[in-house]
Amino acid sequence: MNLITQKTAMQEQIASWKSAGLKTALVPTMGNLHDGHLSLVETAARHADKVVVSIYVNPTQFAAHEDFDSYPRSYNADSEILRQLGCCDSIYSPKMMYSDSHATMIVPEGAATGLETANRPHFFTGVSTIVMKLFHHVPADIAVFGEKDFQQILVVKQMVADLDVPIQIIASPTIRDHDGLALSSRNSYLTAEQRKIAPILHATLRQLGDDIHAGMPIDTAIQAGKEQILSSGFHSLDYLSYCNGTDLSPLSSLSENSVLLVAATLGSTRLIDNLRL
Ligand code: PAF
Repeated sequence: MNLITQKTAMQEQIASWKSAGLKTALVPTMGNLHDGHLSLVETAARHADKVVVSIYVNPTQFAAHEDFDSYPRSYNADSEILRQLGCCDSIYSPKMMYSDSHATMIVPEGAATGLETANRPHFFTGVSTIVMKLFHHVPADIAVFGEKDFQQILVVKQMVADLDVPIQIIASPTIRDHDGLALSSRNSYLTAEQRKIAPILHATLRQLGDDIHAGMPIDTAIQAGKEQILSSGFHSLDYLSYCNGTDLSPLSSLSENSVLLVAATLGSTRLIDNLRL
């Protein structure tokens, strides 16, 4: 496994693999790797001959009041974990991403409308812009994203289709702790007390799924879910929604291709989760 920090060196590496007939995969991350990321890397290795993991904490997807400065940066530990995993060929940790004169951003609509965007209007503009730049720096055949960030995957797929980017997007299932909490770098912000409360998010989604399947009206089920989350110790709820699994339009009755999505804040930590029905 090697470390690459320059765009041209990364592009040359991909070009030499491709000319040898090898299929390449990119796993974009912001580092602070946990088992959820490792499962993305394993998914990538199942689909490609060579795997690049990018590690870059992208400033443009954080609002001024968010945790960009304190976001955990653990390059040495990350590289050791990847070395031990044994299926990452290169780490791409770019020294330079945005020049001082950078002035172009991708502003997605469609799948980016509502949910995360209602509370974090800057977010998908930052994500789309950095993901597009990464696709140019690491012109792989496929890219793997985690289903935990459900709306993010739809936004990236939409961008790739709309802008004719020659890369296949693969969604990899959410990895959960023993009590159902979806693995996330931000879980490390939780106090011991908050960590005990956090799995209620997933438990509520499951309960909601059962209630909807049992015929409970969507509004009633969603209202009960909101009350359960807020009464369990979460401080605020940005959304708890039942949506179409392709375009995220809200649904008012049980549908085949559907997903429950939630974002709620516990102390100062914002957690998101989702469940396909
Ligand atoms: O999901 C993430 O970790 C980030 O949003 C991504 C895709 C690496 C872009 O910075």
